[in-house]
Amino acid sequence: MAFSFLYESLAQNGENRGLFIDSTMALLPILTYPDRRLHTVAKPVAAVDARIHQLVQDMLETMYDANGIGLAASQVDVHERVIVIDVSQERNQALVLVNPELVWTSPETHLNEEGCLSVPGIYDGVTRHNAVHVRAQDHQGQSRVIEAQELLAVCIQHEMDHLMGKVFVEYLSPLKRNRIKTKMLKAQREDSR
Ligand code: NI
Repeated sequence: MAFSFLYESLAQNGENRGLFIDSTMALLPILTYPDRRLHTVAKPVAAVDARIHQLVQDMLETMYDANGIGLAASQVDVHERVIVIDVSQERNQALVLVNPELVWTSPETHLNEEGCLSVPGIYDGVTRHNAVHVRAQDHQGQSRVIEAQELLAVCIQHEMDHLMGKVFVEYLSPLKRNRIKTKMLKAQREDSR
C-alpha cells in the first residue's frame, strides 16, 4: 500500500530500516496491475520456517525500498498468506502478519484515500472499517491478535485483499478502473522501450 503524502515525507528516510535486517536480503520485483497474477488467491503458510523468514526479510527490504507502508506476498508473486506493514513515520516498526484472519471489524466505516505499490501513481477513495482485530502469526510463528485502527486498520484491510487476489482499484467504478488499466498498460509499454 502506498500513500501520496507518505511517499513524499518518507523519501528522505530510506536509510532507516525496520526489524530483521541483514545482508542476505534481496529486492523482489513487484507485480504491476493489471498483471493477472495479482488475482491469485494465496494459500495458508504451513510452517513459519527459514524459507518464510527469508521471504519476510526480502519483502521488508522491497517495501522500504519502494517507500511503501505495506506489501503482500501476492505482489511479489508468492501466493502464500504473508503481509509486511510499517505505518510508522520513522520506518522502524515492522509488522509481520502470517496467515492473518479478521476476527472483528467495526461497524463504522470511512472513505479513505489509498494507493498501492502495484498501481503506482494512482490514488482513490475506498470505504474501509475504522477498526479491525486480526489474528495472525508473527515472524516467529507466534499467534496473537492485533487491535488496529486508523491507518494501520486500513493498511491491514488493503493487504488482506491482496491475499484474496483483490487490488484496491476493483472497488472503483468500471469506468475508472478501465481508465487506470489503460494508463498502466501505456506506462508499462513506455518503460519496456
Ligand atoms: Ni496494495
